Amino acid sequence: MRTQRWTTTLAAALGCLVPDVRAQTGSLKDLGSLLASQKNLTTFYSLIQKYPQILFQLPSQDGVTILAPNNDAFEKIPYTELNAAFANNDQTIITNVLEYHILSGSKTAAQLIPGAPVFIPTLLTNPSFSNVSGGATVENVKQAGDVVVFDLEFNGGYVQVIDSLLIPPANLTTTIESFNLTSFEGALYQTNKLTNYTTTPNSTIFVPQNDAFQALGPAIANMTTDQLSAILDYHLIPSQVLYTPNLTNGSTFVTANGGKITVRQGGNNLYINSAQLLNANILIANGVLHTIDNVLNPAGPDALPNPQIASQGPVFASAERASNLPFTSAIPCTSSCPVSSVTSASASVTGEGVAATRTSVRSSATAVSSSSSRAGVARARETGLGGVGLVMAVGGAVLMI
Ligand SMILES: *[C@@H]1O[C@H](CO)[C@@H](O)[C@H](O)[C@H]1NC(C)=O
Ligand SMILES: *[C@@H]1O[C@H](CO)[C@@H](O)[C@H](O)[C@H]1NC(C)=O
Ligand SMILES: *[C@@H]1O[C@H](CO)[C@@H](O)[C@H](O)[C@H]1NC(C)=O
Ligand SMILES: *[C@@H]1O[C@H](CO)[C@@H](O)[C@H](O)[C@H]1NC(C)=O
Ligand SMILES: *[C@@H]1O[C@H](CO)[C@@H](O)[C@H](O)[C@H]1NC(C)=O
Ligand SMILES: *[C@@H]1O[C@H](CO)[C@@H](O)[C@H](O)[C@H]1NC(C)=O
Ligand SMILES: *[C@@H]1O[C@H](CO)[C@@H](O)[C@H](O)[C@H]1NC(C)=O
Ligand SMILES: *[C@@H]1O[C@H](CO)[C@@H](O)[C@H](O)[C@H]1NC(C)=O
Ligand SMILES: *[C@@H]1O[C@H](CO)[C@@H](O)[C@H](O)[C@H]1NC(C)=O
Repeated sequence: MRTQRWTTTLAAALGCLVPDVRAQTGSLKDLGSLLASQKNLTTFYSLIQKYPQILFQLPSQDGVTILAPNNDAFEKIPYTELNAAFANNDQTIITNVLEYHILSGSKTAAQLIPGAPVFIPTLLTNPSFSNVSGGATVENVKQAGDVVVFDLEFNGGYVQVIDSLLIPPANLTTTIESFNLTSFEGALYQTNKLTNYTTTPNSTIFVPQNDAFQALGPAIANMTTDQLSAILDYHLIPSQVLYTPNLTNGSTFVTANGGKITVRQGGNNLYINSAQLLNANILIANGVLHTIDNVLNPAGPDALPNPQIASQGPVFASAERASNLPFTSAIPCTSSCPVSSVTSASASVTGEGVAATRTSVRSSATAVSSSSSRAGVARARETGLGGVGLVMAVGGAVLMI
């Protein structure tokens, strides 16, 4: 009942139809008054006023945490892939994006700063972005430094100010293209599994980097479709969304192939069988993906890593490095073809140029992720802000404290 009361209050404060303001509780402001009082949140406030329906679905006894992008964050939209949606006033995408900024549960900034990354469900449940149980998650990661935090409390939870808009997870297809995981993508095309992998809910997918396929050469490129299917299915764990905190030393998981994989820890590295986890916790619409440095072999589940060496050797007999990238010719050449390096280098105002820019933003995000385990959808953030109390990232955006 409390929920109903404060959404009513919200609606009133936002100038909506509901006249009942008696429910105003205690001395805490309602969300509308709080946002109106923050000079850095005026753009977000107008957006919420424009899409008040978001607030009518606010849940729960436990309140919510609203990650409110500051005005500067909106200035960056033209440089992000949200540009088209905002320029065209695409109501569906904007609503999804706003929902992705609302976390279940009322959390102070201190509670958002964990020792290990935590993944908090959001209100976003549109299956195009969130075919997972309980809504798309946002990862938050502790940055270095001591923290003194100021929470903006309202009568339904907390508002936390962030410096960039969060971008909801893209689907598997889009994500592997962004991360240039083209051999894996081609192998999924070749076996006609791409749509299945992209739409199977609650999945964990281990994706070997291109070099892993190249190192195998004909040992994988010459497989029959059935053999290749069996290998690929050994990289998908259905019905379990496993982030790195779930990948504990010695744990085993059953794959779509039926065989089990084993997680091993050596020093600070995690291994899946003997393949090292490289870029972890990349959020996708139907779960999470992690990149690895080797193709997993269901015929050799007991392969052990050698943590003393930087990269693990192939686990397929007769591996022989190829000069080309296996399976990439199976990727149909459409508008989503990877942009050539020439185009990448010169971002222009053409459609291709936009794609190239996006690729470069994504790849810089990749670089960040590999060192910090940040969500793969993490976006470039303002580097000039470093140091002024920016101590934590939520889904790639920096919390302003
Ligand atoms: C508010 O915006 C001003 C100007 O961009 C900036 O200097 C200040 O740090 C911002 N404050 C917060 C809390 O975001
Ligand atoms: C998988 O995700 C869907 C939401 O897309 C959810 O309804 C379902 O319960 C989940 N299944 C499992 C086994 O977790
Ligand atoms: C993608 O991978 C290919 C082959 O490894 C490489 O030539 C190309 O430069 C990469 N592109 C990006 C944007 O990383
Ligand atoms: C993945 O997302 C892209 C971009 O939104 C979309 O064009 C494509 O149809 C989606 N793929 C699947 C299998 O849903
Ligand atoms: C979500 O998962 C269901 C299976 O539960 C699948 O049929 C559907 O295509 C998926 N939706 C998207 C947008 O991927
Ligand atoms: C993907 O393929 C598997 C195995 O063929 C099947 O059980 C599953 O229902 C498919 N999932 C979707 C979403 O099509
Ligand atoms: C792999 O297949 C190619 C093309 O069919 C063939 O030329 C090559 O000899 C095969 N290599 C091996 C190691 O079987
Ligand atoms: C992953 O770990 C979290 C936190 O311990 C737990 O709540 C969740 O159930 C785990 N997920 C799976 C699929 O085991
Ligand atoms: C992981 O488990 C193995 C086997 O029990 C053990 O030898 C190893 O020391 C463990 N690694 C870490 C980092 O605890």
